[in-house]
Amino acid sequence: MSTLQDKTQLRVDLERKLFKVPRISFTSQEVLEAERDVIFSKCWLYLGHVSEIPKPGQFVTRTVGGRNIVFSRDMEKRVNAFLNTCPHRGATVVRDRAGTAKSFQCFYHGWVFGIDGGLKSQPGAESYSESINQGGEVDLARVPRLEEYRGFWFVCFDKAAVSLFDYLGNAREYIDLVADHSEAGMEVVGGTQEYSIRANWKLLVENSIDGYHASTTHASYLDYLKGTAGALAAVPLKGHGVDLGGGHAVIQYAAPWGRPIAQWIPAWGETGKQDVERLLAGLTTRFGEERAKRIALTNRNLLIFPNLIINDIMAITVRTFYPLAPNYQNVNAWALAPVGENEWARKNRLENFLEFLGPGGFATPDDVEALQQCQAGYDNAREAGWNDISKGMGREIPAMDDEVQMRAFWTQWNKMLGKIDKQD
Ligand code: FES
Ligand code: FE
Repeated sequence: MSTLQDKTQLRVDLERKLFKVPRISFTSQEVLEAERDVIFSKCWLYLGHVSEIPKPGQFVTRTVGGRNIVFSRDMEKRVNAFLNTCPHRGATVVRDRAGTAKSFQCFYHGWVFGIDGGLKSQPGAESYSESINQGGEVDLARVPRLEEYRGFWFVCFDKAAVSLFDYLGNAREYIDLVADHSEAGMEVVGGTQEYSIRANWKLLVENSIDGYHASTTHASYLDYLKGTAGALAAVPLKGHGVDLGGGHAVIQYAAPWGRPIAQWIPAWGETGKQDVERLLAGLTTRFGEERAKRIALTNRNLLIFPNLIINDIMAITVRTFYPLAPNYQNVNAWALAPVGENEWARKNRLENFLEFLGPGGFATPDDVEALQQCQAGYDNAREAGWNDISKGMGREIPAMDDEVQMRAFWTQWNKMLGKIDKQD
């Protein structure tokens, strides 16, 4: 009987420059369970942005890696992450999506916990031994690891994992290019967008860093840009893809859309031009001309393995997703923007977000349709067993519409799934 490793083995032919992924990776319940064990329980996963809980007492709840988690700032201003399950019998303790509180009361028997997750009181406390909370054993359970990089907070369910800093490795440079947009920091604007896709989660990984599909899937958006971007509309998507190691990858490129930080388009008028020039001058003072231009004029779609996307394009979207079934995933996405951005730039940023990146924009519905079509192909035509991810293989500098970034993901995915068989 073949092992999971055999079934999910990639087919790589260096001579013919072919890279093939077996479609069972998108359809198998066994693969999904293995992913939960060796990927979502071992890797650093994105929890939230520092700007979502700026003040003591603020919290948000969300599902990360399949676990319901409370992300909170306590009265000492510390950031906490704990599992949202009551240590008494398991009920969900915090049932709001977000808010401000001094304490949380479990609705079932009424145990009360502080904003830091510590047990504060129980109805009928005299019936319990005084040592019931020795060592914090009936506090809300803390997530084993919680670390931050440049305002992005991550959790890891593996106590023994390397530090987040080391885990991010070469990807840190690209997070810096986003975090450096503003000296005052970055902030999530407008809450969380949530939607579902009837497609395997790895299809969204690929799609989020896919420079190859823009001119076909998003032809209507590129056409629309001709009316707003003037001469810039003639600029083709041009740049390259990079395997950053550890499954992380990025594409970076020039593109014909306006970037509120700081690539001007005629539709923004003279006032906009002056603002953009001022922003670029500010970046140049802080970082020198070369880095300032890299921040302002280069777009980047960044994957942090396994399931965090930070796309800094005509606006910034931060996106994470998790599989509920081999062919179904829930997506959480946020718009990120520089703190202190002026009214004009913020308006254009949000318009760009709505037009392209938001759930109702030009991009998302078309991408969702493409992903669902792919999934239907895997589910309905099992005899066609392989995906091709060979584009640009063997090229010294892969172009942004090649597929080196996806090969980086799949190579790491395969390496991690390989651990399953070794444990058996
Ligand atoms: Fe929470 Fe009983 S389950 S108090
Ligand atoms: Fe797309």
